[in-house]
Amino acid sequence: MTIKLFVTGTDTGVGKTVVTRALITAFLKRGLKVNAAKPVESGAERVDGRLVPLDALALVRASGGQAGLKNVCAYSFPDPVSPHLAAANVNTTIQAEPILSLLNQQAKGVDLVIAEGAGGLLVPLSPKLLMADIVAQSGFSLIIVAPNVLGTINATLLTIEAARQRGIPLNGVILNRTPETELDNAQAIARHGQCPILGELPTATQDDDQSLARLAEEWLDWDRLLTNPQTG
Ligand SMILES: Nc1ncnc2c1ncn2[C@@H]1O[C@H](COP(=O)(O)OP(=O)(O)O)[C@@H](O)[C@H]1O
Ligand SMILES: [Mg+2]
Repeated sequence: MTIKLFVTGTDTGVGKTVVTRALITAFLKRGLKVNAAKPVESGAERVDGRLVPLDALALVRASGGQAGLKNVCAYSFPDPVSPHLAAANVNTTIQAEPILSLLNQQAKGVDLVIAEGAGGLLVPLSPKLLMADIVAQSGFSLIIVAPNVLGTINATLLTIEAARQRGIPLNGVILNRTPETELDNAQAIARHGQCPILGELPTATQDDDQSLARLAEEWLDWDRLLTNPQTG
């Protein structure tokens, strides 16, 4: 059975892409066949007149560079704002169906598929659709990336609660960038959220995929990552 993981964050800019690149690379090193997805990306860059979703491109590169960008990213928009607004700004309405079919397609013929969300779980994609609605319908289980800072217990517990309310299975929480001070984030989230902590990832000193994978291999719970929880 294909393991299907959806990486969300407690916020934008918390390390979803870094974590997803690290996981893809580490899964490949384990000999797994892996596909990636970044179904919706706003803030795509214009390069030589073409719109390039850079997160999607980073995931394609981490996964071996075989997939075409259009198989990884269903919607990309230039404005660096919430997807519902970025889409409206170019007279588009994001629909669930192209995203769900992209996720299904990427799950075919591989051991594991890993998708990166946009922003956090309750980011709106249209006036009628939240990213959480997509995840709930996709059959993917959730990895929550949270910055290991003061305030993260609350933001992570809220994300866990929103996922549970929609029946989204939880794989676990990754605390990103272990701080010098002890904040009790992992223990408090595990206790109050009744949710596995996959590990605390330190700040990387090198940004290449292999270095990120080595950090993930050292600091994350691989047995848990490779399970496909059916319930939250
Ligand atoms: N563990 C880490 N070590 C070093 N830099 C990190 C780490 N996690 C995130 N960053 C940096 O923080 C910024 C935001 O991370 P990113 O993965 O792009 O966030 P998101 O995908 O959630 O928006 C990037 O510049 C990234 O390189
Ligand atoms: Mg990202």
